[in-house]
Amino acid sequence: MDSIKIFAPATVANVACGFDIFGFALEEPGDVLRITRSEGDGIVISNRVEGLQLPLDPESNTAGIAVAKMLQSMNTKAAISIDLIKKINPGSGIGSSAASAAAAVFGVNELFGRPYTTIQLVEFAMYGEIAASGSPHADNVAPSLIGGFVLVRGCDPLDVYSISVPDNLYCAVVHPQVTVNTAEARAMLKKEILLRDAVTQWGNAAGLVAGMYSANYELIANSLHDVVAEPARATLIPEFHKVKEAAMQAGALGCSISGSGPSMFALCKGMSTARKASEAMSNTFTKNNIANHAYTSSVNAGGARILN
Ligand code: HSE
Repeated sequence: MDSIKIFAPATVANVACGFDIFGFALEEPGDVLRITRSEGDGIVISNRVEGLQLPLDPESNTAGIAVAKMLQSMNTKAAISIDLIKKINPGSGIGSSAASAAAAVFGVNELFGRPYTTIQLVEFAMYGEIAASGSPHADNVAPSLIGGFVLVRGCDPLDVYSISVPDNLYCAVVHPQVTVNTAEARAMLKKEILLRDAVTQWGNAAGLVAGMYSANYELIANSLHDVVAEPARATLIPEFHKVKEAAMQAGALGCSISGSGPSMFALCKGMSTARKASEAMSNTFTKNNIANHAYTSSVNAGGARILN
């Protein structure tokens, strides 16, 4: 096998109370990559989506950076060509750069006969995130590769756990058409937080994990609050508070910023509530003249996969 087509899903990182430590995968959208291995040396990246501006230099593209690290670790020379069929808009807050890096390392691992474990692939993909955002964080790449809801307990060394997801948990995601740069959104965060805010956030993070394992939707709802990143970043999203209020009025368990934004997510009990929340959020953006894309999804249990 010397050519392979891979899908890697979009992801929601932070999940309100878990800045840099929680993330989950969506069913749709996702990035599709055609990866080809041949004799020779070097990585070539092409964009197959008209009108999308992407860095194609392998040293500045997250997929190229992650694959270069992987080839370096194998001490192998190969010519790798990566065709990007991106369905996740860059700068959307649903793990666009992460999905490309995840799909790339997943595909190259397959083409080389799977020398690496999934956790090792997360480490390679994380190099793409370091380049894209300036800091190591695996809360998008880990769920994109592994699927499901993931806890990144630590990045150095990488320590990742899959968290149980209740059957009836669904997600609404709405992407307003404004761009947020993750590195800039990270720079907006305070370097230190008050002890009382830390205690609130710890309580909510632990509560969310306990709620997920016990399918306790009330506990999940009570825990979906962010006193660390959301207050600083809400200004990046036009009409953030109105959109959040619309999701809550529609019956969402909680609503916050997806990753560093501008997408917003709402977790809901049941698909029909998620649809209502998605519609309410989308309508609120639309009424305020902000074009947007809305998605409704269960948590994608499988993560990156081969398409052909
Ligand atoms: N945890 C990261 C952040 C996710 O919030 O900056 C970026 O998608």
